[in-house]
Amino acid sequence: MKVGEKYYKSIWKDEGDHGSVHVIDQRRLPFSFEVMTLGSVADVYDAIRDMAVRGAPLIGAVAAWGVYLSFLEHVGRTVSSSDDQSASRDLLSPVRRDAERLKSARPTAVNLAWAVDYMTAVMKSYPDAGVLRKAAQGLCDEEEERSRMIGVHGLPLIEDISSKKHGDAVNILTHCNAGWLACVDYGTALAPVYLAHDNGIRVHVWVDETRPRNQGSRLTAWELVNHGVPCTLITDNAGGHLMQNGMVDIVLVGCDRATASGDVANKTGTYLKALAANDNGVPFWSALPASTFDLSVDRPGQIEIEERDADEVRTIDGVSIAPEGIAVSNYGFDVTPARLITGLITDRGICRAEKESILKMLS
Ligand code: MRU
Repeated sequence: MKVGEKYYKSIWKDEGDHGSVHVIDQRRLPFSFEVMTLGSVADVYDAIRDMAVRGAPLIGAVAAWGVYLSFLEHVGRTVSSSDDQSASRDLLSPVRRDAERLKSARPTAVNLAWAVDYMTAVMKSYPDAGVLRKAAQGLCDEEEERSRMIGVHGLPLIEDISSKKHGDAVNILTHCNAGWLACVDYGTALAPVYLAHDNGIRVHVWVDETRPRNQGSRLTAWELVNHGVPCTLITDNAGGHLMQNGMVDIVLVGCDRATASGDVANKTGTYLKALAANDNGVPFWSALPASTFDLSVDRPGQIEIEERDADEVRTIDGVSIAPEGIAVSNYGFDVTPARLITGLITDRGICRAEKESILKMLS
């Protein structure tokens, strides 16, 4: 996507430099646009844990490079067939340890474990830096294409509402940031919005601020304003009122992990939006790439929900907003049950949030 006059993706590598990747430090937006260089697996772990990079598809993409960088650090050469089996196991074991550590950086978004497991499987078959570099780049390219296709498959939903409204602006409510910053490019929930806007369909986005880290006000609002998409920032609790008063045509959110039954883990507060949408007959869609399905789970309770630092709630940018030492609960995600979800928009097409429909689409 364009930032000023320049096109950016959320992660990229310089042509001749095989020892690092670049990302945008999302903690600094919208106040300053700073590029971070990640040159080691420790840099990658810190960037994911401290949320310099965030969003399910992006943390998977960054972690893939983390496995590659760990291989460079610990092995740095091709493990050849002349290395006996136990020597090659010893050579690769620090990379495996780093891989497990990377997976622990953030527990809810399944893309992280999925990407790390993919890279360690490649390493097992081809313990070679060049192969791993290509695998990490390939994973990023595929993730970008998946986001583009989510846009293509989600566009008709917006077109349909637009034509029912005779071209009046389609009012879309979104939570957190499921735009290009959260992916390699385009976004998930925002991919159809950008495409609709670029195709001349009138859209307007209600942006939930998304306390406590404010991914809505800091990132989604920045993205949309940059792209010229009309949008309005709202407090997290305003959506119900807007829906009651016919001011929301569709809710579009992202997803950090979807169960085989179509339940969707996403940023805390998503579930409350789904309840309000259900009560007011507003369609509620979640957009996700195939890499965000976790078919090994089929009940909401099986998803580990990340609990984050109390100071995210007690303070804003270091300024205290609560009595010192107050007890805090800070769950980063919640799970919206499939029964509240109108459907899922994926890179393979759209489907109902239920097992049969999901498995058919993914097969
Ligand atoms: O804690 P974050 O900022 O990583 O949470 C991100 C979200 O909840 C997004 O909605 C989700 O990752 C889908 S992103 C395309």
